[in-house]
Amino acid sequence: MSGLTIRPRRLRASAGIRSMVRETSLKAADLVYPLFIVPGENVKKEIGTLPGNFHLSVDESVKMAKAAYDLGIPAVLIFGLPEYKDEHGSSGWDMNSPVQRAVTAIKKAVPELVIITDVCMCEYTSHGHCGEICGEKVDNDLTLELLAKVAVSHAKAGADMVAPSDMMDGRVAAIRAALDQDGYQDVSIMSYSVKYASAYYGPFREAADSTPQFGDRRTYQMDPANAREALKEAALDVEEGADILMVKPALTYLDIVRQVKDSFDLPLAVYNVSGEYAMVKAAAQNGWIDEKRIVLETLVSMKRAGADIIITYHALDAARWLSEK
Ligand code: PBG
Ligand code: ZN
Repeated sequence: MSGLTIRPRRLRASAGIRSMVRETSLKAADLVYPLFIVPGENVKKEIGTLPGNFHLSVDESVKMAKAAYDLGIPAVLIFGLPEYKDEHGSSGWDMNSPVQRAVTAIKKAVPELVIITDVCMCEYTSHGHCGEICGEKVDNDLTLELLAKVAVSHAKAGADMVAPSDMMDGRVAAIRAALDQDGYQDVSIMSYSVKYASAYYGPFREAADSTPQFGDRRTYQMDPANAREALKEAALDVEEGADILMVKPALTYLDIVRQVKDSFDLPLAVYNVSGEYAMVKAAAQNGWIDEKRIVLETLVSMKRAGADIIITYHALDAARWLSEK
């Protein structure tokens, strides 16, 4: 048989044929849009490090959530910049904080939209670490109690799903127990199971005002060099009762996404993080790349690697582009 009997190009000959043999699909329903809620009213202020994304007061967050829902995006992920910070991060479970009020307001205005909340202490603590500090260290077990309180307050406000991003050991079990005890059996947990200590979070920390005041996050977030450890983290979260697993960041960890996908049956989310977004936006603003094509290619690569759900700051643009014929 000549080498040219089989010609893969036959199946690339037209848009119609290509669409028939396309292996991976990307749709608005795959996307989750992050929102940053700030105190005040009528606030819609573009975030310098995340162009095209905004600090939103509760009233404005409702409009943005509605816009996302109208574009076919099924869920938002809510972060908050509180009115006050202290050592323990107590504004994290204050029912009057921006996150709790936004959750309730969005649930009321757009009941079908799935509301996911980020559960972590770094946005609420004066020192900017993701947990309770003892000496110079983040104390794992004391932090679990705080995380449980934050998660329950989000559930009480009306969240459908909580997403712990702190990387403490045992947090999924602790949060599950606390939710169940308070009657929130139906609130699910999307666990940031595999979260690396990454420089790609830089623009987010500006946006969320959550940079640690001393040290770094390497005693709780994972070493970027490790893959086997990712499977161990994911296995623990499965055992502890997580409903959805997550790998974060996405782009530099697509090998991990594939391995987690092949090893566990749970739905898998990836977080296309702030640094990944910022690099694309900066290059696009310089006219160096075709933003639309780069974004859609990047997002489909995450689906191809095994992601079922993609959290991305590109969500609104991507949903618009995907609806174009
Ligand atoms: C809070 C949190 C972070 C991100 C999501 N939740 C920052 C961090 O861990 O330092 C990063 C999101 C992004 O970069 O887009 N722990
Ligand atoms: Zn944190």
